[in-house]
Amino acid sequence: FMKRRKTWSRYPPGPASLPFIGTMFSIDFRNPHRSFGQLQEKFGNIFSLQNCWTNVVVLNGYKTVKEALVHKSDDFADRPHFAIYEHMGYGKNCEGIVVARYGHVWKELRRFTLSTLRNFGMGKKSLEERVVEEAGFLCSEIESEEGKSFDIHVRLNNAICNMICNIVFGDRFDYGDETFKKLSQLFQNSLDEETGFLPQLLNVVPILVRIPGVAQKLFRAQRELMDFIDVAIDKHRKTRDPAYTRDITDVFLKEMEKGKAAEENGFHYNNLRLVTLDLFTAGSETTSTSLRWALLYMLLHPEIQSKVQAEIDKVIGRERPPSMMDQASLPYTNAVIHEVQRCGDVVPVALPHMTYRDTELQGFFIPKGTTIITNLSSVLKDETVWEKPNEFYPEHFLDAKGQFVKPEAFLPFSAGRRACPGEQLARMELFLFFTTLLQKFTFVLPEDQPRPQEDGHFALINSPHPFLLRALPR
Ligand code: HEM
Repeated sequence: FMKRRKTWSRYPPGPASLPFIGTMFSIDFRNPHRSFGQLQEKFGNIFSLQNCWTNVVVLNGYKTVKEALVHKSDDFADRPHFAIYEHMGYGKNCEGIVVARYGHVWKELRRFTLSTLRNFGMGKKSLEERVVEEAGFLCSEIESEEGKSFDIHVRLNNAICNMICNIVFGDRFDYGDETFKKLSQLFQNSLDEETGFLPQLLNVVPILVRIPGVAQKLFRAQRELMDFIDVAIDKHRKTRDPAYTRDITDVFLKEMEKGKAAEENGFHYNNLRLVTLDLFTAGSETTSTSLRWALLYMLLHPEIQSKVQAEIDKVIGRERPPSMMDQASLPYTNAVIHEVQRCGDVVPVALPHMTYRDTELQGFFIPKGTTIITNLSSVLKDETVWEKPNEFYPEHFLDAKGQFVKPEAFLPFSAGRRACPGEQLARMELFLFFTTLLQKFTFVLPEDQPRPQEDGHFALINSPHPFLLRALPR
């Protein structure tokens, strides 16, 4: 293999590789985006790594990432194999969406998810109405704290998870529900289980994860999450009325009834549980963590919070619930939400891609089957694009007249074939929850609490360190 790599004369440069382990010791897998930043300074925007015998190429900066994901979308659309998920039933044509190989079944399941999300609520309560309703429940819950200092983390998770739960199972959890508390902990633990050196090693040396007992021991939370999904689907099947579709699960079950062709397109029971798990894992923590960053930035920048509230008061007032129609009339609020996503940098290294065929990028040769890391953090903080890349500066999204503008390097949802299919939903949730919260409350730091840290904690997702706040009714 080393010989082969040497014959690729235009292969991207990278740090020296050790026998067997490759360059794995060059990366802090608990902080990969920081390690990538250091290597970018040394080797440039495109550099190579070697996880044991797996070739990895890291892409940095807006220009490079855009060229790969947008201009050569097909070439970079595959995903590598993740051995650490095999124990949950992943296999050929049975991979859900998030980690599925680029091909027919992935395309069908992704199309199904996008169109079902888009058509959601036709004839019934629209998705927007559901978000507004949930934001109202969240406000009542916050009010019950009566201005005392508290940690808002679990309640935000509860609110956002309820949206996915609603879409997938037509159900929600009351705030404080014990099952939800357990579920929330499982989400967190499963992200932790998938982060760090060991899971990386197991992915590139799959034989280790196939040793009996290893997966059971290392991925307990993942397995419990899957058990939760299995029970929920089972309950759903028993209460189903084929004449009536309540949610995505019912639409999927209906597809499954179409027979062999549908099965070949990926609509079978195992994919139902994996797609469901995908929607929960990809759609909850990402959005609720973004909202947590939003409130943290409001605590740290009270003058920005006041400007947002003044704009909301002027356009919506204090009583009428916000709607998506208001977005165009709230340029400053919109800019603040976008800046939260840029600075919060919630998915800093996205998900690994893999080259689908031999390809070239800025003069470098990248062979088929190379794992590709798109360092989204380096795009959202690209010094050649953003005026103040490392500061919270909503003006990044405003023109000279105060109108909202979105620079092309705003890529928190990635781009191209594998771009996040939940972007529309996430943007609606962020806008409606954030404006409702700031319409009803002023968030302040408790007097006895030190200034919260602005850097994040990485476990696939970049989240704020725990902090307390007080919510003063307006
Ligand atoms: C993939 C970001 C919310 C479903 C992704 C990716 C990113 C991302 C960076 C990887 C794209 C790539 O591989 O290049 C975010 C952020 C969110 C968010 C920042 C919230 C603020 C959601 C929601 C859903 C969702 C609400 C579902 C309802 C998915 C799925 C994928 C994905 C299914 C895999 C797509 C594929 O491989 O084809 N997301 N996401 N995400 N996201 Fe999101």
